[in-house]
Amino acid sequence: MASVRHFLEIGDVTAKELDAIVLTALKWRKQGYPKTKPLAGKNVALIFQKPSTRTRVSFEAAVSKLGGNSMYLSANELQLGRGESVEDTGKVLSRYVDCIVARVFSHRDLIELSKNGRVPVVNALSDQHHPCQALADIMTIYMYSKKPYRAKVAFVGDGNNVCVSLMQACAATGIDISVASPPEYRPPENEVKKAQKYAEHTGASIVLTDNPVEAVKDADFVYTDVFVSMGQESEKQRKLAAFLPRFQVNSGLMTYAKPNAKFMHCMPMHLNEEVTPDVAYGPQSIIYDQAENRMHTEAALLKFLLR
Ligand code: CP
Ligand code: NVA
Repeated sequence: MASVRHFLEIGDVTAKELDAIVLTALKWRKQGYPKTKPLAGKNVALIFQKPSTRTRVSFEAAVSKLGGNSMYLSANELQLGRGESVEDTGKVLSRYVDCIVARVFSHRDLIELSKNGRVPVVNALSDQHHPCQALADIMTIYMYSKKPYRAKVAFVGDGNNVCVSLMQACAATGIDISVASPPEYRPPENEVKKAQKYAEHTGASIVLTDNPVEAVKDADFVYTDVFVSMGQESEKQRKLAAFLPRFQVNSGLMTYAKPNAKFMHCMPMHLNEEVTPDVAYGPQSIIYDQAENRMHTEAALLKFLLR
């Protein structure tokens, strides 16, 4: 029997597999979903320890489009919320379902789940990675680029989960990325090293800077995420003071990018913090295509993992 594949971070798929997942998603977006219902008879559990709009609904829709069944499980309503271990939760759920998708506070919980079940575990966002977001981001970049998809992405903001997965996915697919953050909010060194390793095979350039103008210069895509992530509410004042005003994506900063550069955001947005409304809702913004692509890439990912 083939071993179970998980998707906890970008490095859990090869660059070739990542590309194939994104290309399948692009095909399905254009031509519609397969009539063969590849997930027929399959159950997918969606465990959420934090709120979600896009991830929850896009996974439910993706599973449904492929003929499967999904179960939304708020962590508070599981025994997990009353102290049952992640280990037991994983072992028991994997007797009922074919895949566990989980959004957790601690990435360690995902590793625990993946070790203790018999089914694929998918990271629906942790404190360290957001790889499903990155699949949709790459798909969106492909949609708005010309083959062979060489492009420059500028990520301006917190070197957190979204930035880490984006940087690693860009490196794996040969897209150049510049990350601008205050030095204390750079992406973690070990995650940068992984990205550099993926880039050795693709020639993608990875630049880390504390200068947003340098990062955005000649970029094809300008991307940002909230400065205060879920679970970091107590750090709000300190973080806003570190990021504002220099790291805000506004029309002034956008002038340094290419004239037809696109604006991207994983959403939800905190308007007038990391981005101003004129950019978020302006003609360069592609945030709704990006959000739609969550569904297509997650469908392609599930088909790949449950094949
Ligand atoms: N981008 C993203 O993961 O959004 P949700 O928190 O709404 O799922
Ligand atoms: N960095 C954000 C992303 C939300 C989709 C968070 O973790 O809250």
